[in-house]
Amino acid sequence: MSSAQVTIPTPLRNLEIKYTKIFINNEWHNSVSGKKFPVFNPANGEKICEVEEGDKEDINKAVKAAREAFQLGSPWRTMDASVRGKLLYKLADLVERDTLILSTLESIDAGKAFATSYFGDLPGAVKTLRYYAGWTDKNHGRTVPMDGDYFSFTRHEPVGVCGQIIPWNFPLVMFSWKIAPALCNGNTVVIKPAEQTPLTALYMGSLIIEAGFPPGVVNIVPGYGTTAGAAISHHMDIDKVAFTGSTEVGKLIKEAAGKTNLKRVTLELGGKSPIIIFADADLDNALEQAHQGLFYHQGQMCVAGSRLFVEESIYEEFVRKSVERAKKRVLGDTLSPTTQQGPQIDKEQYDRILELIESGKKEGAKLECGGGPWGDKGFYIQPTVFSNVKDDMRIAKEEIFGPVQQIMSFKTIDEVIKRANNTTYGLAAGVFTKDLDKAITVSSALQAGTVWVNCYITMSPQGPFGGFKMSGNGREMGEYGLHAYTEVKTVTMKISKKNS
Ligand code: NAI
Ligand code: MG
Repeated sequence: MSSAQVTIPTPLRNLEIKYTKIFINNEWHNSVSGKKFPVFNPANGEKICEVEEGDKEDINKAVKAAREAFQLGSPWRTMDASVRGKLLYKLADLVERDTLILSTLESIDAGKAFATSYFGDLPGAVKTLRYYAGWTDKNHGRTVPMDGDYFSFTRHEPVGVCGQIIPWNFPLVMFSWKIAPALCNGNTVVIKPAEQTPLTALYMGSLIIEAGFPPGVVNIVPGYGTTAGAAISHHMDIDKVAFTGSTEVGKLIKEAAGKTNLKRVTLELGGKSPIIIFADADLDNALEQAHQGLFYHQGQMCVAGSRLFVEESIYEEFVRKSVERAKKRVLGDTLSPTTQQGPQIDKEQYDRILELIESGKKEGAKLECGGGPWGDKGFYIQPTVFSNVKDDMRIAKEEIFGPVQQIMSFKTIDEVIKRANNTTYGLAAGVFTKDLDKAITVSSALQAGTVWVNCYITMSPQGPFGGFKMSGNGREMGEYGLHAYTEVKTVTMKISKKNS
């Protein structure tokens, strides 16, 4: 995704913000409470606009609409699966048509470098919608060789009304990851974007109307976590909740499901992903992948490779080159085409990252570069590299979600496997080596939902994604991603005599 060889179009600097209301039944609503909340540009702290603030009553309205759209005999329930696919393809085409608008909006709202949203997030969202558009009429049931004189088959039915709560780091991509598999299988949706980044989700409301989805199939309620989010997780008429965000809130979501209607829960949570670099690896590739695998989007990635284990014999050289690479990172205006690193999302994240950097210094890690704020406005943090990191330091244990790289050294393969797995998380991992045996041994032994070998953050809609241990429950994307949105029904029919 090198932006150097391709022309980057000019972002729409004076973009008008058209959609700031709650989207229910293909209409725009004010909040029941009459409240609005401000949305800020993290690059300069300026208010972009105010958005209607959804709360419990608005979630209730949205769930009612989604339930209505899911009733037997409704346009959505009686639609051919292939026509659902057509609608999703149409939506993908509309997102592609509006790439410039959406990528500008994402940059302003989420503090994303424009090249990142234009070349990364937008194609990611479009591909996800198209991938699941293709699956609508392929999620087959089976015939079952039941004992006795019976004919038995399974139906892959939709689960029902799906509540979806998404974070601020990949707002549009997460929106498409959530709605695409749900709609693919005929569910209806109430989705809450993160309070920091509601704007691309709301824009999608306008495209959902234009694509021709029946009213109530997708409802979008912006609002805060403890109000609108909690109303989703506690709702008695939501059948399934999908959440991406912190492990802390993931626990609350599961607890709420347990206390209410046992709605199905899938969770995609945090990580502290190890990248293991053996001395025999292609070092230039390993270095660049480890760099991008941590610093991409300011380190605000669930899969950030924030524990880098480097074999002792190449440790010093690797640290030196990582520092040189980090220092080359271009920080600046998010709408400038050459910017690689924008601000952190908000003051809370910014303070938390700076506090963790301080803890690293205090606990004796060696600060190789960065280590503090950057610029005079916005929530920018210097690309930071720590060496001589020990496994029990906070920076080696806690998810930082910022541009802070931890480099440790290791001696043996058994030792590094044990240390890499010594975490409550299990989202992703990376291994760099030219030795096939090492690659297979390590990738089999690592407790992680995704292991990348000689690459990192390579993701596309065909590949299932999710966490071991406290990094989550369930898988999103790929064929596996359909399971979360499918109820399997076994229909068994008495017949007079079966034949094998
Ligand atoms: P968060 O988990 O609080 O927010 C994510 C989403 O959950 C937002 O839509 C928020 O409104 C909602 N939410 C918050 N509290 C809720 C509740 N009680 N019930 C229902 N929904 C609720 O994450 P936050 O505070 O933005 O970031 C904290 C940390 O979480 C980050 O530093 C990072 O470590 C991790 N994180 C991980 C993400 C991932 O991609 N897995 C994404 C965002 C954050
Ligand atoms: Mg939070």
